[in-house]
Amino acid sequence: MTSTDLIQVRIQALRWEAEGIVSLELRRPEGGALPAFEPGAHIDLVLPNGVSRSYSLVNAQAHQDHYVVAVNRDAASRGGSRFIHDSLRCGDLVQISAPRNHFALDESAPHTVLIAGGIGVTPLYAMAQRLQAAGRSWEMWYSARNRTMAAYLAPIVELGQAGGADRVHLNFDQDPGGRMLDLPAIVAQIDPAAHLYCCGPTPMIAAFEQACAGRAPETVHVEYFSAAEAPAAEGGFTLVLSRSGRSIVVEPGKTILDAMLDNDIDVPYSCTEGVCGTCELRVIEGEPDHRDLVLSKEERAANKSIMVCCSGSLSPKLVLDW
Ligand code: FES
Repeated sequence: MTSTDLIQVRIQALRWEAEGIVSLELRRPEGGALPAFEPGAHIDLVLPNGVSRSYSLVNAQAHQDHYVVAVNRDAASRGGSRFIHDSLRCGDLVQISAPRNHFALDESAPHTVLIAGGIGVTPLYAMAQRLQAAGRSWEMWYSARNRTMAAYLAPIVELGQAGGADRVHLNFDQDPGGRMLDLPAIVAQIDPAAHLYCCGPTPMIAAFEQACAGRAPETVHVEYFSAAEAPAAEGGFTLVLSRSGRSIVVEPGKTILDAMLDNDIDVPYSCTEGVCGTCELRVIEGEPDHRDLVLSKEERAANKSIMVCCSGSLSPKLVLDW
């Protein structure tokens, strides 16, 4: 994505969804369809203050003329969620990327289990809407600190009860007597052929992955919000950009992204933590030191692409398609 690929949209509606969470409904100013998307997809929101952040699409994929994203006010905000909560208003124009999806839903699974923690419910709510519309078997485990902090609680419960079923299991860990979801116990009683999806705080995802260690990897899906390890900033290698023929040295203490920006090389990025996939570039030569949470184990081993915001190089020269 470069600035020319961005789409201008208007904030048509801004809604309070839960304590500390607002949603934005985004539409083209002139009306008309936006690029199609599937559950699990996210967009980059480029804010008027220049900050870019990635947010999962919440609404049903059948909606063609608008996107909805929900934003949790992060106490450690570096200018993304704080700006959205404090400064954006209905009618404002913002830029967005087209949707990308690193958390795709496999609709062919015989049963799907969605495990949500806090604001991590957003891509999973989109999946639940799709699974219900497609008549597929699903259930959700939705954990939040308390009811007032659980976005989309009422529509999710209603969706889970459609047809008299009981598909949604709620957990509020800060309620009297409340505790964290018992992920090992939940995962242990799920059919081996089912697909499981988890999105939430990093400790929750780590516990989920541990609980799923014995399951077939292709049935276990996670979406991270923040980095799990430090970026590669050892530096000391040469970066060659094949299209321009430019060659720059990535110094110790710098990421590839730092080095490119320092050299006025325009490259797309958003989260800078290896979770959104915006900065993915194709590798032509060299061996990346992968530190992201976007690529699968197989994709890492293939060394065909790299997230330049956080990954480095194990070889003295790295050639990228840029
Ligand atoms: Fe998000 Fe690199 S900017 S993965």
